Amino acid sequence: MQTRQIGDAKVSALGLGGMPMSIESRPEESRSIATIHAALDSGITLIDTADAYHIGADEVGHNESLIARALASYGADTSKVLVATKGGHLRPGDGSWTRNGSPDYLRQACEASLRRLGVDAIGLYQFHRPDPNVPYEDSIGAIRDLLDEGKIRMAGISNADPDQIRTAQQILGGRLVSVQNQFSPAYRTSEPELQLCDELGIAFLPWSPLGGIKNAADLGTTYQAFAEVAHELDATPHQVTLAWMLAKSPVVIPIPGSSRPETIRASAAAVGLQLTPDQISRLDQG
Ligand SMILES: NC(=O)c1ccc[n+]([C@@H]2O[C@H](COP(=O)([O-])OP(=O)(O)OC[C@H]3O[C@@H](n4cnc5c(N)ncnc54)[C@H](OP(=O)(O)O)[C@@H]3O)[C@@H](O)[C@H]2O)c1
Repeated sequence: MQTRQIGDAKVSALGLGGMPMSIESRPEESRSIATIHAALDSGITLIDTADAYHIGADEVGHNESLIARALASYGADTSKVLVATKGGHLRPGDGSWTRNGSPDYLRQACEASLRRLGVDAIGLYQFHRPDPNVPYEDSIGAIRDLLDEGKIRMAGISNADPDQIRTAQQILGGRLVSVQNQFSPAYRTSEPELQLCDELGIAFLPWSPLGGIKNAADLGTTYQAFAEVAHELDATPHQVTLAWMLAKSPVVIPIPGSSRPETIRASAAAVGLQLTPDQISRLDQG
């Protein structure tokens, strides 16, 4: 498995997104554990999660607890695995997603994530989504305090625009290590953030890289160029999508979601795909 850098941590060039294993239509826990173990077997050392990946209001942190159990039962050394979680989003239980970026709430959320993950310090803590009711500076100030206190080892942000990336970098005193934004063949408007991360040497983690849980299966039919290149390489359109992102910049680390061992194994294999400049330009336009 090739590696890339998040702050001072060397991680697999592609991570596992945990969301499909904990929100609506999630599988039985045994299949989720097998999926996480298959990711580790494939050399994946980055797992993305959030306290908000759950369904009912009484099961906040479902995905974090699941990942902690999967790591504990793996049966081999997992100390090099970076678990990246997030705070600032909530699910009240009616299917909606709400936000709370207040410093007091973020501190409380981080403490709860620490307990669920069973660690002294969270490897990478990401502010999930700007809260329009709280100044961005205040939310990021809370993340800085958690960093200063050693509750989190590294700090990231998510769903941020270029101004917010610069603001966060300044408030964190140059210690911003990652930006996680939506990016896929269907959603390319995060190119400016990707470019800025490339310039600043900050990891860029595309979320819903395959178009999201509901649309991932249609990738090859919706985006013909991806199907064509897949045919040329004897690969799948999903693998070509991940390889296309990886080719954009060494700071890119896609985090495809999976709820089956087969899909995360196929995604891990995409890291080794080589695209020609001609193929990349067809995918850029396709
Ligand atoms: N920061 C944010 O605001 C935010 C928002 C959304 C998501 N995220 C993060 O980003 C991660 C990825 O996004 P996502 O899960 O929404 O969508 P996604 O990665 O675009 O798509 C996930 C779906 O793709 C399928 N899949 C995965 N690898 C495949 C492969 N190689 N071939 C064919 N199908 C494949 C999976 O199917 P199976 O389920 O059958 O395995 C899964 O249901 C999430 O899990 C979460 O960690 C973050």
